[in-house]
Formats: sequence, structure tokens, C-alpha cells
Amino acid sequence: MKLNDKLYKMINDQIKHELESAYIYYSMVSYFVAEGLDGMAQWMTAQAREEMLHAGKFFNFIGERGGKVELQNLKIIKTNWTSPLEAFQDALAHEEFITGKINDLMKVAIEVNDFPAKVLLDWFVSEQVEEEANVGKVVQTLARVGDSGNGLFMLDRELGQRVFTPPPAQGE
Ligand SMILES: [Fe+2]
Ligand SMILES: [Fe+2]
Repeated sequence: MKLNDKLYKMINDQIKHELESAYIYYSMVSYFVAEGLDGMAQWMTAQAREEMLHAGKFFNFIGERGGKVELQNLKIIKTNWTSPLEAFQDALAHEEFITGKINDLMKVAIEVNDFPAKVLLDWFVSEQVEEEANVGKVVQTLARVGDSGNGLFMLDRELGQRVFTPPPAQGE
């Protein structure tokens, strides 16, 4: 079944959004590294790498459906933050933006009865719930920690325990 034109365009755009997510998160990694917050840098690196996998899922889907991906320019809006809280708040706002995009995609997949797209998007719907919850949790903790250097130190150590697990071959 050929991909519907509108759905193709939205999925193609979503590849850009996911790669842009990785780009934004790597920008945050550079901020954390410069601040000596190695744990947060590691956490955000894992986040960025996950985003590249997300882009890969949409990329493969277009290919499998006989389409051709057209890559677009990535925009980087921000390269510095005034606090880890501000960075994680931006990350949360960005995830909410992405959730909106996934929901729009789902609406169109349903509209045009594209069941394989719906299956792919089901995964992303759950993933976004998890993403918002994880980033939201860090925002909440950072807000509570406030200016406490000790609290920040502890949280940085905790976040540094996040490991990126690459998916099994073929899987993603
Ligand atoms: Fe994503
Ligand atoms: Fe994400």
C-alpha cells in the first residue's frame, strides 16, 4: 500500500524533528560538560542517541513503504543555558512539542486508514508518555534542589547512572 502523500510529508518532516531533538540535546550535553556536570552530560547523551534511533525508525519506514526520504536542514536555536533547571525545562517543552507532532501523525494515519503507520505510531505514543515523565521528573527534582550545591552534586551522580542500551540488530 503506497504511502498517502500527506502522511509521507509528515513522516519525512518527523525525521527532521527527531534529528533536531538529538541536535538540541547534544547542545545541552556541551553545556553540561562545560559546567562539569558529567552525570547530566551522560544522561543527555543517552537521550540524544535515543532520538537518532527514533529518526531511524521513521527513516526505515519510508524506505520500506517504497518512498524516498528527503533530509532537511536542522536548526539549532540555543547553545547555552543559565542553569541545569532551564536546560531540562527546555527539554520538557521540546518533548511536549514532539508529542503534539506524534499525535498529529496518528490522527492522519487513522484518517487515511494506514494500519502499518498506526502500529509504528502506537510505539511512539507510549514512548512520548515515558519521555515526558522522565524529563518531567528531573525538572521536578531540580526545582526542589534549588541552589543547593550538594543536592545538585547528588542528582548529577544519580543521572550519570543512565546507560544507553542500543537496540538489538535489525530491531530498533
Ligand atoms: Fe523522539
Ligand atoms: Fe524524545
